[in-house]
Amino acid sequence: MKYSLMSIVLAAEAVTAFPFVANMPGVDSSLLRRQQSGGSNPGGPASCPNNPNHVPAPGITAQYPYNGAKNGKKGNGKGGYQVPAPGDTAHQFVAPGPLDIRGPCPGLNVAANHNFLAHDGITTFNELVDAQQNLYSVGYDLATLLAALGLTLTDGDLVTEKLSIGCDATTRTSWSPALTGQEPGLDGHNKFEADTSLTRDDYFLGTGDNFNFNGTLFKMMTETTGGLYNRDGLAKYRYQRYQQSLHDNPNFYFGPLSLLLFGASSFLYELMPSGPDYTPDEATISSFFGAAKQSDGTYTFNGEEKISDNWTNRVEPYSNSDVVAEILAQYLEYPVLFGGATGNGGFDLLNFNSIKNGSLVAAPGPETACLLYQLATQSVPSYLNSIITPTIDALNFVTNKVAPQFEKLGCPQALTK
Ligand code: HEM
Ligand SMILES: *[C@@H]1O[C@H](CO)[C@@H](O)[C@H](O)[C@H]1NC(C)=O
Ligand SMILES: *[C@@H]1O[C@H](CO)[C@@H](O)[C@H](O)[C@H]1NC(C)=O
Ligand SMILES: *[C@@H]1O[C@H](CO)[C@@H](O)[C@H](O)[C@H]1NC(C)=O
Repeated sequence: MKYSLMSIVLAAEAVTAFPFVANMPGVDSSLLRRQQSGGSNPGGPASCPNNPNHVPAPGITAQYPYNGAKNGKKGNGKGGYQVPAPGDTAHQFVAPGPLDIRGPCPGLNVAANHNFLAHDGITTFNELVDAQQNLYSVGYDLATLLAALGLTLTDGDLVTEKLSIGCDATTRTSWSPALTGQEPGLDGHNKFEADTSLTRDDYFLGTGDNFNFNGTLFKMMTETTGGLYNRDGLAKYRYQRYQQSLHDNPNFYFGPLSLLLFGASSFLYELMPSGPDYTPDEATISSFFGAAKQSDGTYTFNGEEKISDNWTNRVEPYSNSDVVAEILAQYLEYPVLFGGATGNGGFDLLNFNSIKNGSLVAAPGPETACLLYQLATQSVPSYLNSIITPTIDALNFVTNKVAPQFEKLGCPQALTK
């Protein structure tokens, strides 16, 4: 299945507005099957590890306070220290065992391997907010937003506030599986997880495995960036991955939630490098991704996603406005169209706030500042015929946990009554 540039140009003339509809002319509706892991599919509950001994993350102590973030609250916002702290045995690397869940996010896998999140991969909102601050020096605004997106988009449980960082562990995350239905975890496709990932296959191309490390892709990323995973290099590589999916994946979908992928690629050069020089070099990035270079030049997964040796986190917290600026900067280097492949050579463009006719057009102002916040508070087209509409519970959750930081930016507040 191929999508030439020509077909995009033609489709652009017959622009479709949000929301997408399955019966639109030109859409092959046989492709519009439920794009979600389930049952015995990869990422589904049947193969999801189940550790009966769930131990919550130990958190910080008076002896090893990191930046003081605990119980989902704001820490002191001061980074620039070594992690794990010398002597802090509670946060040394421990490889995941067969009963531990890991998923598509190397940042969270590393955090679980170092016990900043529960080691079995069943985590909570508070652990996510604390870990991002204490470990990576992520700002409180971005930490709460990402954690809330994780819970609300991928159907983490809003009562237990639990989330699987990988496969479907509904029996452990849900307060009542009969009432909540399946909670797919971060592996759930076209939610937080999406096509054109740096080192993970597209859901369709990987026959449902959208979460395991792919060494061919890591090699491609290393070659394209020249082993320096900075903004320019990753913008170029993301473009390459987009073209690859457009060409190969008949179910390719690149929607508003794909904005998060530009954010994730900025984490390689904004969160993973180590002080004092903060260079996103191959040794550092390989450590976080668990990438092992073989003598023949290929890369394999060593099962040990870990903080690189003698690692010092960033000094200034990485904030919402920082990540939005990086998303725009990468996008503008290689602009691509937002939309979805229709399965017969067409590509439908979408509109969603700053995305107009498939293009991201962001000007300074509230809409740009609120780019990611909108994903948590509005109905988001999530593939060709489907929209994720936040429930009242999800909106209440966001209102309680995240909204206060975004109100002052002028972001439109969700109406929950
Ligand atoms: C609560 C916070 C977070 C959540 C819920 C989350 C979730 C995710 C998910 C679902 C993906 C897969 C996206 C895709 O399809 O490619 C992802 C990718 C990624 N995340 Fe996270 N993440 C969080 C925080 C972090 C942090 C703090 C870091 C940095 C150290 C990080 C680094 C990455 C990277 C580098 C990728 C891209 C991996 C790849 O494409 O191969 N994440 N994250
Ligand atoms: C890894 O990615 C390459 C390039 O997209 C693909 O050809 C290959 O099938 C993938 N390997 C696995 C094991 O999924
Ligand atoms: C890390 O620091 C220790 C102690 O200063 C030193 O012995 C070791 O060689 C360093 N390791 C790396 C990889 O820099
Ligand atoms: C989108 O494209 C259509 C058709 O070409 C045009 O009428 C409309 O003005 C465009 N909208 C925006 C916001 O650019």
